Amino acid sequence: MDRTVFTHWCEQQLYTPAIRRGTELLERACDLHLTELYCCLGFGDLLAEPRTARELSETLGFEASAWVALEAMLVRLAERTGVVASVNGASCVRFRSVSEPADPAPELAQVRRAMAELGPDYAAALEFLDFGRANFVTALRDDTELVDRLLCGRDAERCSLWVRATNTDPTQDVHGRIGARAIADLGAGGTVLEIGGGTGNGIRHLFRELAARGALGRIERYVFTDVSPRFILGTRREIREAYPSVACDWKYLDINRPFTAQDVPAGSIDLIYAVNAAHVAKDIVGALRECHAALRPGGRVVFAERIRKHAGDMAARELTLNLSTYHRTAALRHAAYRPAHAYLQPSSWLMVLEQAGFRQPEIYPELTAVALTFPAQYAAVVTGVRCPG
Ligand SMILES: C[S@@+](CC[C@H](N)C(=O)[O-])C[C@H]1O[C@@H](n2cnc3c(N)ncnc32)[C@H](O)[C@@H]1O
Repeated sequence: MDRTVFTHWCEQQLYTPAIRRGTELLERACDLHLTELYCCLGFGDLLAEPRTARELSETLGFEASAWVALEAMLVRLAERTGVVASVNGASCVRFRSVSEPADPAPELAQVRRAMAELGPDYAAALEFLDFGRANFVTALRDDTELVDRLLCGRDAERCSLWVRATNTDPTQDVHGRIGARAIADLGAGGTVLEIGGGTGNGIRHLFRELAARGALGRIERYVFTDVSPRFILGTRREIREAYPSVACDWKYLDINRPFTAQDVPAGSIDLIYAVNAAHVAKDIVGALRECHAALRPGGRVVFAERIRKHAGDMAARELTLNLSTYHRTAALRHAAYRPAHAYLQPSSWLMVLEQAGFRQPEIYPELTAVALTFPAQYAAVVTGVRCPG
């Protein structure tokens, strides 16, 4: 795959002017929501004396791991607004209030209007943040599984909120687009295992991209997996209707358990694909070793992933995602390659692929090139090849 061509495609076709503008508005909406929460929760007074996120969380009576969400929020506010400052202590970061923020409501209304001008689908990105804002305290104190139920399809009533947040939202949809493009360009195919396929962003884009190139036949068998029966059934219905000729299996697979114990024999897969799902692994190196063992020699992993620019880089949608106990606690942290929960930095991906035994660990596009015109870029494809023999 030609890195320069792929990078150019990302700059020109993936990150369209609307996506760039939508990203900017989403980031601002997140800052405004967090500022509003900061005011409503009385953080100005509570942080008159410097405190850690853990101390703050205890004062508010939040669940034991809620400090992760509060720390992400305060780091973001410290970096992007003048409301709070971080004070680096010897072992942990403390935060102190700096200034009283202006009422964020009028600007939030402007952001909503500007987002609406980009098209109806962009509203899905704001809806997801609105849900987090509205349920922030409930999810961190009173109903601590609320957002876990949403993310894993156990909340039937709110299923459409998650479908819209992972597929309808064009700023999120780019992950399936970038992954599909990479697989098509790499010429990968054969027996494909998709992990954490969920509401179908990965498979939908991949089949569409291959069909458009007349290359759907490259897929000999597609094994679509997730841990949510509701998501698996929903995606199966849609894909069976649209692509009846492609041989697909639909099954439960937990990335945190040995693959062989879940009917994925060693050396049986040509391509392992995941869209914003590889980072859900608790032990990332261990999960990648499972992937490595499941692949045939020369097979590869392709993960379309949101990336963190640095450990404290909070994605706008994490206003809501950080309310999930799983999202904020699952990752086994490691100072060198997993200093934060959930998403990894590009350099960390390269490190963990190597540790798991992959050759040619690579990141697409050329992130430093894209950063010149779009510093807020957030999507990347992570790939590595199984050693022969
Ligand atoms: C952010 S979503 C991405 C879904 C889908 N790939 C997409 O982009 O539309 C993460 C997915 O991982 C699944 N998941 C969560 N825990 C998992 C686990 N332990 N093993 C496999 N999948 C998991 C969730 O059910 C969810 O569908």
